[in-house]
Amino acid sequence: MKPTAPARTAIRGDLLDFVDVPARADASSPAVRFRADHWLLIEDGVIAGATADAPDAGWQRVDHAGKLILPGFIDTHVHSAQLDVIGSWGAQLLDWLETYTFPAEMRQADAAQAAMTAALFLDALLAHGSTSAVVFPTVHKVSVDALFEAAEVRGMRLVAGKVLMDRHAPEGLRDDVEQAQRECLELIDRWHGRGRLAYAVTPRFAPTSSDAQLAMAGELLQAREGLYMQTHVAENPAEVRWVAELFPEARSYLDVYARHGLLNERAVLAHGIWLDDSDRALLRERGAHIAFCPSSNLFLGSGLFGWAAAEEAGVGISLASDVGGGTGLSMQRTLADAYKVQAMAGTKLSAWALLHAATRGAARALHLGHEIGALESGATADVCIWDWAGSAVARQRQKMARDLHEKVFAWIMLGDERDLVESWVAGVCRHRRRATH
Ligand code: GUN
Ligand code: ZN
Repeated sequence: MKPTAPARTAIRGDLLDFVDVPARADASSPAVRFRADHWLLIEDGVIAGATADAPDAGWQRVDHAGKLILPGFIDTHVHSAQLDVIGSWGAQLLDWLETYTFPAEMRQADAAQAAMTAALFLDALLAHGSTSAVVFPTVHKVSVDALFEAAEVRGMRLVAGKVLMDRHAPEGLRDDVEQAQRECLELIDRWHGRGRLAYAVTPRFAPTSSDAQLAMAGELLQAREGLYMQTHVAENPAEVRWVAELFPEARSYLDVYARHGLLNERAVLAHGIWLDDSDRALLRERGAHIAFCPSSNLFLGSGLFGWAAAEEAGVGISLASDVGGGTGLSMQRTLADAYKVQAMAGTKLSAWALLHAATRGAARALHLGHEIGALESGATADVCIWDWAGSAVARQRQKMARDLHEKVFAWIMLGDERDLVESWVAGVCRHRRRATH
C-alpha cells in the first residue's frame, strides 16, 4: 500500500539549514540558520514553519530530540546503473568505461532488470539521506521509464533522461540520431513536469555523440520549457585530448557543447576539472553549473577541481557522488572528500560552504530553491534526521566541540550513512534505520 502523508506532522530535533550563501571559508557565517530543539511543522507534505514549543494535539508528533535535522541532500550527478561496478580496481576514466561501466550498463536493456536496478538505486539514495538527484540511467528507454516510475512511487524530486551515445560505444549501447530523438520526445511527453519529475537531455559526453546527435540534443532542449541538460566535461586529461582530436574546430571541450546550443541555465556539467578562464566565463554567462564529484575525481585519478577559481568566476557549484566513479552515495563522505581536495589547493572550505552546496546551493543551481534544499515554509518536506555521532570516537569529538561549526564539521568528517535515522520525502517517512539488535 502506498503510504500517504498524515495531514499534520511535527518533527522535533535540531534544525539546520541556510538562509543565504555562506562565504567559502567563513566558519561563523550569518547565512546559517540553526534552530536547536525545534519542531518542524509539516502540513500536507509541505513545511509550514517551525516552533520552539510543542505543537497541540492536532499534530502527529515525531520526537527526535537531540538529533540533527537537515534538508534532504541533493546528489546532482550520479549513475543509477553503476552500482554494479562501484569500487572497480585499476583504471582511469576511458579504460574504466570500457572495462567495467559499458558492460554493466548493457544489462539495462532488459525491462525487469531496469526496474530492479531503479528500485535498488533509489532506495539506496534514501538510505544515504539523498532525497533528490540528477541521474544518468542508460541509453535504453526502458531504464528511463523504470527510473521515473520508481521515483514517482517514492515521491522523489528527480531529474533524469535517456543517455545519448551514437558512437565510440559497444553494440547494444549505441543509438542513432533519429531513434534517439523519437525516444527522447516520447519520454519528455510522458515524464517532464509530471509531479516532481523533470527531464534532462543527456548526451553522455562529447566523445560518444556525433556532431549530428549533439545538434539534435541542442534542438531537443528547446522542445519544452524547463528542460535540463546533463553531461560530463573536462574530467580527465586523456579524455580532454581525445575531445580536441574529435572536435578540432572547437576552442575547448566546453565549447563543443556551447556550439550545439547545450549550455543553458539548467545545464549540469559534471567535473569541469580541466577548464580555463574563458570556459568559466562562458559557464557563468549561460548560468550553467558544475557538479563537483570529489570521490570520483580521486578514485579515477582524474584531477583536483578548482573550487575557488570557479566561485570567483561566478560559476555555481553543487556536490555529487558520481557513483560508480565515486565510491559511495554518502554525501558526508563526498563533502569530506571535497574538503580534502580543496585543502590540497590551500582552500579551507567551511562546513557551511560544503553543506550549502549539497542542499540549498544545489537546489538554487537547479532552479528548485522554492521546493527543496531548505527547511523553509512552503518548501516540500524532504528532510532527514541524523545522529550527531555514530561511534565512540565521534561522540567524544562532539563532546569536545566548542561551537556549532566545529560540531557540524566533525559530523561531516567522521560521519556517513550509518548516522541516518530517517528520510522523509514530501512529509512521508520513506526510510527508517533498522534496529541493529
Ligand atoms: N564520462 C563519460 N561517461 C562517464 C561516466 O559514466 N562516469 C564518469 N565519471 N565520467 C564519464
Ligand atoms: Zn558521471
